[in-house]
Amino acid sequence: MTVVEPSLSPQEISRIAARIDRPIVLVGLMGVGKSTVGRNLANLIGRKFVDADDAIEAAAQRKISEIFEDFGEEYFRDGERRVIARLMDEHSGVIATGGGAFVDDQTRSLILDQAIGVWIYCDIDTLVERTSRRDTRPLLKSGDPQEILTRLYHEREPYYSQAQVRVESRDGPHVETAVSILEAIDAWL
Ligand code: S3P
Repeated sequence: MTVVEPSLSPQEISRIAARIDRPIVLVGLMGVGKSTVGRNLANLIGRKFVDADDAIEAAAQRKISEIFEDFGEEYFRDGERRVIARLMDEHSGVIATGGGAFVDDQTRSLILDQAIGVWIYCDIDTLVERTSRRDTRPLLKSGDPQEILTRLYHEREPYYSQAQVRVESRDGPHVETAVSILEAIDAWL
């Protein structure tokens, strides 16, 4: 595996990291790379990373697809709201959220008040390609993923665009998206 060196110097990364006084919460559609970018970002700034979907699965002792199948989306959203509130209490690092989390009014207010919300976005074709690699996402099983992702983009863009910081995830190495997030946070703070 090739290790990609970040394009910011270690000194610059430490300077920006020292300014970050709140958790960083990544939001955006399925497939934009929130978890991978989040891990890279946490690594760069020496903080902890947590994936909200993993925490929901651990709390429910079930896969997300099973929660949707057995109890429905509303039940999942209730659990998601509670788990993210708990993670925000416990973590000062980087939290990746599931694509629908920031649409919830309570979760969005909490993130906007107590964290730095970062919207990661990219074009729909890339999302379709990336999400086709795994079939773990219940919302993409009910029809054509391109249509579903396009509809979700239009429904959710008004919410995602409220995040304090927005960054495009390009096709390059995820560490570069993590660096772009740091630069955007530095400019915003
Ligand atoms: C969802 C996104 C998923 C997961 C669930 C619902 C959504 O997370 O939370 O399947 O509503 O967009 P990812 O965005 O990490 O795929």
